[in-house]
Amino acid sequence: MDIDTKVIDGSKISSIIKEELKKEIALGLNVGLAVIMVGDNKASEIYVRNKRKACEYIGIKSFIYKLPEETTTGQIMELVEVLNNDNTVDGILIQLPLPNHINTDEVVQSIDKNKDVDGFCHENLGALISGTPNFISCTPIGIIELLKRYEIPIDSQKCVIIGRSSLVGKPLSMLLLNENATVTICHSKTNNLYEQIKDADIIISATGQINLVTGDMIKKGAVIIDVGINKDKDGKLCGDVDYASCIGAASFITPVPGGVGPMTVAMLMKNCVTSAVRKVN
Ligand code: GUN
Repeated sequence: MDIDTKVIDGSKISSIIKEELKKEIALGLNVGLAVIMVGDNKASEIYVRNKRKACEYIGIKSFIYKLPEETTTGQIMELVEVLNNDNTVDGILIQLPLPNHINTDEVVQSIDKNKDVDGFCHENLGALISGTPNFISCTPIGIIELLKRYEIPIDSQKCVIIGRSSLVGKPLSMLLLNENATVTICHSKTNNLYEQIKDADIIISATGQINLVTGDMIKKGAVIIDVGINKDKDGKLCGDVDYASCIGAASFITPVPGGVGPMTVAMLMKNCVTSAVRKVN
């Protein structure tokens, strides 16, 4: 018997969160987000545009710094220093990836940890591991938010994350652990991925590999969270998961687009508001 798979509507949940934040800001909160992007990267331009639009919608002032390709590590760090000391800026985001000649780690680490709304700096990653989180990176916390808003249990569940990046896989593993899940992280060197995911309750894929997970690989009723953003052979946006084959096999699934993606922006907005609230308290 096929399962009645429910689609997790990230666009809808993201709108609800943005609506909640808009109301909070309307009560008289001043919030500012600075976004730094360097060079010409089409994907980054789309992401930054979405962030700017979200800021506009909920009432956050956005300061977008679009720097030329030849900008140096030192010049970006100088700008970050100015923004660290600017009281109207509550959040600083450096859009990744940066051009190869820039030392990304040095630049990201120069952001004040209390303005690091991406949660990428070592102190914020360390705080998450030690169980006293400050800012948590937006995609992983957005995934937890989706699971909670759909009342999908995490406690004691077997969660398999495919992908070990510092932006998604690693912080997400900590968040799931904090929710009492049993967590396995798989990656490109994992032997026999199928063996790892076949009895998983929740599978999260963040690899950039099309059709990595198919309906016949998963346990009936598993929850599928697709973090991949890829283009198929016709140039259409798709995730890591073969969506069609999981319908009837999964209990819940996130679509691409409209699943995890919009949640990243919503949680970024939430982190900015949190930062601004801390400033006035
Ligand atoms: N590039 C792709 N995703 C992200 C993100 O969440 N934050 C930043 N800063 N850059 C990104």
